[in-house]
Parts: sequence; C-alpha cells; structure tokens
Amino acid sequence: MMQDNLRDLGRFIEPDRVHHSVYTDAAIFEREMATIFHKVWTYVGHETQVPKPGDYHTLQIGRQPMVMVRHSDNKVYVLYNRCAHRGAMVCGALRGNTGNTFTCSYHSWQYRTDGTLESIPLPKGYEGTRLSPGSPEFNLKRAARVDRYRGFVFASLAAEGPSLLEYLGDAKIAFDDMCNRAPEGEVEVVPNCFRVIQHSNWKIFLENQLDALHPSVTHESTGRAALEVEHDIEKRNGKAPLDYHYLSAFTTPFHKWDTVQTVNYPNGHCILQGYMGLRPQDPDTLYPGLSVQSPLQQLRAVRPLSVDRTLTEIWHFRLKGAPEAIYRRALGYYNLVNSPSTMVNADDLENFWRCHQGLASEGGDWVSFHRHAGQDDEKDGVIMSRWGTSEAPMRNQFRAWTHYVAGGR
Ligand code: FES
Ligand SMILES: [Fe+2]
Repeated sequence: MMQDNLRDLGRFIEPDRVHHSVYTDAAIFEREMATIFHKVWTYVGHETQVPKPGDYHTLQIGRQPMVMVRHSDNKVYVLYNRCAHRGAMVCGALRGNTGNTFTCSYHSWQYRTDGTLESIPLPKGYEGTRLSPGSPEFNLKRAARVDRYRGFVFASLAAEGPSLLEYLGDAKIAFDDMCNRAPEGEVEVVPNCFRVIQHSNWKIFLENQLDALHPSVTHESTGRAALEVEHDIEKRNGKAPLDYHYLSAFTTPFHKWDTVQTVNYPNGHCILQGYMGLRPQDPDTLYPGLSVQSPLQQLRAVRPLSVDRTLTEIWHFRLKGAPEAIYRRALGYYNLVNSPSTMVNADDLENFWRCHQGLASEGGDWVSFHRHAGQDDEKDGVIMSRWGTSEAPMRNQFRAWTHYVAGGR
C-alpha cells in the first residue's frame, strides 16, 4: 500500500462490505496503531495485579511497551518501558516486584517506580552537557492519561480526548455487572492469565466475539460430543456434572441465537443481550480491545502484535466475599471453554487463521457483512439488531474504525 493510498481509507469501508486489505495491509495496520490504539483508552490491568509497592506488570499498548507499577505513594503508574539513556526496556519480565527502583540492565540507570530518575552510576562525566538529571526528559515517560473504573485500570497515550467514563459510556455496565455480583462489590484478579497468540489480524477476534452466526457451526462437533456423554451419564446417574453442559450448550441451533439482540454504540462498543440467559444484559465488547463476560467473571484483552498476529490475554476474577464454590464453577467454564487447551478455543483459532490466509489471497476483494444490513433499528446513533445473527456488530465496528482512522477522537 503506497502512503498516498492511506489518505482516504474510508473508501475501503462500505455499509455492508469492507475491502480485504484492511485486515492484511501492514501500512493500514500501522495507521490503526497510531489513530486508534495510541489514542483510545486501553485496558491495562486490574489494580489487584499490583497489590504492593514495587509490583509491576508489563504490557503492550499499540506499538508501545508499557509497565503498570505500584509506587510507594500507593498509586498505580503506567510508564513507557524505555530507558532514557539508550532506550533499552528497563523491565524485561512479564511481572514481578522490582523493589523501590527499576534498574536498567544495560548501564544501570535507576528509576523510582513513579518513573523519576533516581541515579546514574558514574555521575561524573556529564558536566557541561545537556543532561540534567532533574529534567523530566530523563525520567521514564508516563502514559498521558491513566484512570480506573471499579478497579479496572485504563491508560490513554493521548493527552486529549474523551474521559474514561465518556469513552466507556453505557458499556461501563460490563464492570458494574461483574462487581455488583460480588458480596463486597469488588473483584480481585486471579494472578495470571492465559495468553494466546492467534495468527490473524486483531479485528477478526473482535468480530468473532459478537458473531452469533458461528457457534452452531464452528463449535457443533464439540457441543455434540459433550451432549452425547452428558445424556449417557444422565441415563446412568440421573444427573451429569454442570461442566458437560458448558460444552453441550454449543449445540444451540441458529434460531435460538436469533433471539439474542445486539446493541451497538457509536464508538464501536457492543452489548449482546440475553446471552447465556444469565442476565438480561450481558455486555460484551469494548472497541477496540476488550471483551468482557461479566457473568463468567472474565475478560479478554486484545493486543495486536502485527498485521497478522494478535495476542489475547484471558483474565479471570474472583468475586470478593463470594463462596469458593462460585469461583470453582466459573473457573470450570474458564478452563473448559476459554482456555487455550479447549476444543472450543481451538475451533475458533483454526477459523481465525483460515480467515487471515484467505483474506491475504487474491481470491476476492471484499468481505461480506450483508446479513440483515439495512434491517437494524437505529435511534440516536445506537443500532439495535432485530436478530442475534445480524452482522450489525461488525458493521458498527467499522463505523467506529472509519471515524478513528480519519482522525476522529
Ligand atoms: S540503556 Fe539503560 S542504562 Fe543505558
Ligand atoms: Fe467461537
């Protein structure tokens, strides 16, 4: 893709179809990083991931290596993981406790956990140079904005833009739903997550999260196998453990999926209502990088790595004050349906890879999002699908995409 062609990316997006290059073109990917991921609020982690001063957790925001760390003032800071000397990442591990300082492994510059420079070894030698240790230029740079909602920490690398609450809008119910289910009104992260690298563009993951058209097909064999065993156990014992049902539920036929409804917001967020029949409102994706399943106490953070590689982190939470059995039940679902070792996840990953291979080919130019196009209801910019299998969420995600890549906030 020539730089010239990047000027008007809107032409790749039509109301009911998008050009395949938005999934496969490396220059478009870079544009997405700059105009979307480096601007919007990105989910960094949960406060309880860093309970003590010195606790840190590294992550990627767009192209930027970052570290979330708790300082001695008990505040959580989000810093660029980049030494002010010659640029090495000061933090090489995924997580840990660094004590009072980060020490760069290259020449041992030391930084306090709020990012300020603590010391340079061999301080003699800088006299008369432009290096002044008190200047912010020689600190670890901070994310432009950091905020949290009910313990969930977000950062934006842009100084200007909507506040976190404005950005979340009605989709903040995802966190309310999860926290309000806890007797103490709070959740606590389970200290580590599953990490899955999928060989596809990041948008394919996000689209799949709201794709009610795929479970009956993609996960049919998994669901049917579980159903057979479940019936067999029921015949012998009268009742099968709930775990079988987690998987046999994937035999749900198409017409049942049509009874759920998606509510699509202008900034790309989407709520899938009636999913799993657990609550009337089950918020789902926050565009562009987060999928929350509040009834299951889990979320997935999407971290694009390159145009054809995407990391997803699958995090799990405990409801504070809830009995252990509640946690165990949610953990069962987490392991059986969302872990990298399940058939369900493997089914999806196979499709993601196949999609990306096909989209990168010369076998066609367009991706179809025609299903129920023009048949959704819209009020004040919010699009309600009449059928669960409407491709409204994908069309809506590209509405937000077009807005952002054109420079919108
Ligand atoms: S690069 Fe960090 S101390 Fe030299
Ligand atoms: Fe799936």
